[in-house]
Amino acid sequence: MAGYPKGSARLARMTISIHQIHPVFVGEVSGIDIARPLSPEDVAAIEAGMDRHAVLVFHDQKITDEQQMAFSESFGALEDARGGNITKPEDKRLPTGMNDVSNLGRDGQPLSRESRVRLFNLGNMLWHSDSSFRAIPAKYSLLSARVVNPIGGNTEFADMRAAYDTLDDATKAQIEDLVCEHSLMYSRGSLGMLDFSDEERAMFRPVRQRLVRTHPVTGRKSLYLSSHAGGIVGMPMPEARILLKDLTEHATQPKFVYVHRWRLGDLVMWDNRQMMHRARRYDEGQPRDMRRTTVAGTAATV
Ligand SMILES: [Fe+2]
Repeated sequence: MAGYPKGSARLARMTISIHQIHPVFVGEVSGIDIARPLSPEDVAAIEAGMDRHAVLVFHDQKITDEQQMAFSESFGALEDARGGNITKPEDKRLPTGMNDVSNLGRDGQPLSRESRVRLFNLGNMLWHSDSSFRAIPAKYSLLSARVVNPIGGNTEFADMRAAYDTLDDATKAQIEDLVCEHSLMYSRGSLGMLDFSDEERAMFRPVRQRLVRTHPVTGRKSLYLSSHAGGIVGMPMPEARILLKDLTEHATQPKFVYVHRWRLGDLVMWDNRQMMHRARRYDEGQPRDMRRTTVAGTAATV
């Protein structure tokens, strides 16, 4: 608290501190209540933590949807969620601005086994980067645990900077200028989900993304992989998919992966420009209510 004038309202403020909890990335944040408005210093400290650690974990944050959206907007505009799923507007459980990553329908009950929305959402259990299927992909995602499933449901994160750094020089040279095609139809297609309507096919038209990205602040390079990537421009598809599978296998070695075991009230924030993540299986007969906000990116990668 040194430096704050005595008697000022700022005396009540906590000081943010971040300590790394994995050998290569991930910071655990303390000294902040994200339900309250942030000072510019708080925002700068969190942004700097994101640039360095790429995943930040906040515990014991009991927040409303409005508070989650307000916190997220400190880091940029929220992404327009349209075109990112097959849920019809009338079936949506959460307000505009919130992405529903639960297994629940509008009635608050777990979706049925045959539910097409449930089957589509199983794609979140493949390694991916959020919104890599959008022409301008996402910057940050923020996931809040409102109801934790009793069995499973961990989220895993893989550091795509460490993955890039540890490639051999020949591979780095081979992939430097490659451009991939990403679509929700590729990730879902890899699960055998192929029955898309004409309207969905139009909505899920592939977009192009560089395979190697450079972080705008740190200048670090990373692999921009995602299960949405299903082709590489100028390369026969099977050859492209073998290369993408090999790179993904390299990038998701245990030494580059952090496993987050959710506690009620956790909020985890990650940088999609330098991370992949996936959910793990859980007891789908019981609720898992996870709510995501997404901070939009500001530029295409190609
Ligand atoms: Fe995701």
